[in-house]
Amino acid sequence: MDRAGDYHRDGFLVLPRFVDEAACDELMRAASHIVRTSSPETVSVFTTHEQARRTDDYFLGSGDQVRCFFEEEAFAADGMLAQPIERSINKIGHALHDLDPAFVRFSYDHRFGALLGELGLARPLLLQSMYIYKQPFIGGEVTPHQDHTFLWTDPPSATGLWFALEDATVDNGCMWARPGSHREPPRRRFRRDGRGGASFEVLDPAPFPEDGYVPLEAPRGTCIVLHGLLLHRSGANRSPRSRQAYSLHAIDGAAAYRADNWLQRGPHLPLRGFAAPGDA
Ligand code: FE2
Repeated sequence: MDRAGDYHRDGFLVLPRFVDEAACDELMRAASHIVRTSSPETVSVFTTHEQARRTDDYFLGSGDQVRCFFEEEAFAADGMLAQPIERSINKIGHALHDLDPAFVRFSYDHRFGALLGELGLARPLLLQSMYIYKQPFIGGEVTPHQDHTFLWTDPPSATGLWFALEDATVDNGCMWARPGSHREPPRRRFRRDGRGGASFEVLDPAPFPEDGYVPLEAPRGTCIVLHGLLLHRSGANRSPRSRQAYSLHAIDGAAAYRADNWLQRGPHLPLRGFAAPGDA
């Protein structure tokens, strides 16, 4: 299998059976613990529907924290959660890979670093992690976007590693990707405005294409690699089954990271590369 060739042709790779069941179980347990021990005032609604997404301090300050974000549809008309909190969280982000022991153990696997090296990153560094629930019945859709929009480097280098911790199907909101779209220029840039907020800069006013996406159904344990310029999206989940996933984003240490990207980390948490083969 010519992994690098397929990746550079399509902008993504689907690698079944890349991580084992025990690792999936451990991350699911760790995420559940985070949610159960989080306090309600430290959670926030997350949505991609608003063009200027909700850019409160809670979101913009989460680059070097572990914070929980609610599903948009988690609340009843009276403003209370309509289901238990464990069924109400959209995602946890964005520094699980450096702050939570189970996620640290998983994330720095030398195989991930080797894979990113094979795909062209000279010095892969882990920048961002997200635990994504895609809850039963209320799991929100993610509209088409390029990850480079949010994690801008010069030249573009943001690369996603998305791990299916449960089976992801069309029915429960799997990823969809537009093959070859990674060869197109960036369309939006999400940047801080210097006044405590952030917004989208429109680089190409054309609407995002609606067609040409293919579903990336992914059995549990699958790793999907996503090029930072690839157009991708995921559907809502109206099924009774969740579609939990863990996503990592790496950048190339040889590329320049913009100072006005939304995700900024304090000096106490410098970016790290992957383990070497044989490291514990
Ligand atoms: Fe994405």
